[in-house]
Amino acid sequence: VSSLKGKDLLTLLDYTSEEVQGLVALSTQLKIITKEGTCPKLLEGKTLGMIFEKHSTRTRISFEVGMNQLGGKGMFMHARDLQIGRGESIYDTAHVLSGYLDGIMIRANSHAMVKELAKHASIPVINGLTDIYHPCQALADLETIAENKGELKGLKIAYVGDGNNVAHSLVVASAHVGMHVAVATPIGYECDTAVIAKAQAIAAANGSMITITNDPVEAVKDADAVYADVWTSMGQEEEAAKRLQDFAAYQINDELVAHAKPDYMFLHCLPAHREEEVATSVIDGPNSYIFEQAENRLHAQKAVLASILG
Ligand code: CP
Ligand code: NVA
Repeated sequence: VSSLKGKDLLTLLDYTSEEVQGLVALSTQLKIITKEGTCPKLLEGKTLGMIFEKHSTRTRISFEVGMNQLGGKGMFMHARDLQIGRGESIYDTAHVLSGYLDGIMIRANSHAMVKELAKHASIPVINGLTDIYHPCQALADLETIAENKGELKGLKIAYVGDGNNVAHSLVVASAHVGMHVAVATPIGYECDTAVIAKAQAIAAANGSMITITNDPVEAVKDADAVYADVWTSMGQEEEAAKRLQDFAAYQINDELVAHAKPDYMFLHCLPAHREEEVATSVIDGPNSYIFEQAENRLHAQKAVLASILG
């Protein structure tokens, strides 16, 4: 996607619908050619710095392997080992890293911090999850649905659970491809209204609808895909007991998915807690695409990397 060269990826709100659709199509293409053993070495000699303030399995490994498959190198750095971990400023860090690297992927506690890093870095910054967004996940989610359902436009996806980073990026991404999206959260755990308002404008332009509700049955009704994330995100561990109670009626189980289309896809960004946000019978059942979805992180990451750093 040539218009993305040198750009940051902080949130898909900064991208056009054509760019998001292009990234999804490119992911699928890269998946096919990677499996054929002919993935082009588009990033030969390039190094991506990967900074993590939080745990990760999929994001870390898919970015590192993705760089590898494109002929470049991914370099893992835990924030606590860098001098930012003992107070070096984001401003100085951004300038110093810009002298060594071709791009930075960062998983951070605070989206504001990532914005500041991007502001002062002269190289592209890619968001690998913050408190508000998880755009790379959403691209892999769209690819997974597109591969299995064909056209995304006009489909309906239901997200049931916490109005968190994954929910925000899923809503924005769905809006960009004209997919209807319904989000059901408990009262007090709704998505950020400013994010939803911006996504509404994108959805309207692409002919799709965003439904915000507290009723999981309303959200899941006739859905083509049903999506879950954890009830307690990284950094919210002290709220876990309260959240377990507050989300009890929002478990995705056989009774709830009976309202979806019979051939619905179950999706989860992972890691998952079986018998909390999703029943084992659903996540390990015939409608679950979770491992394909996790694998697609690799191809979606390559589409992002090839477009931005290529
Ligand atoms: N889905 C996701 O981002 O997984 P990790 O936390 O393992 O990177
Ligand atoms: N909402 C979860 C997603 C993990 C990939 C978290 O932020 O911990």
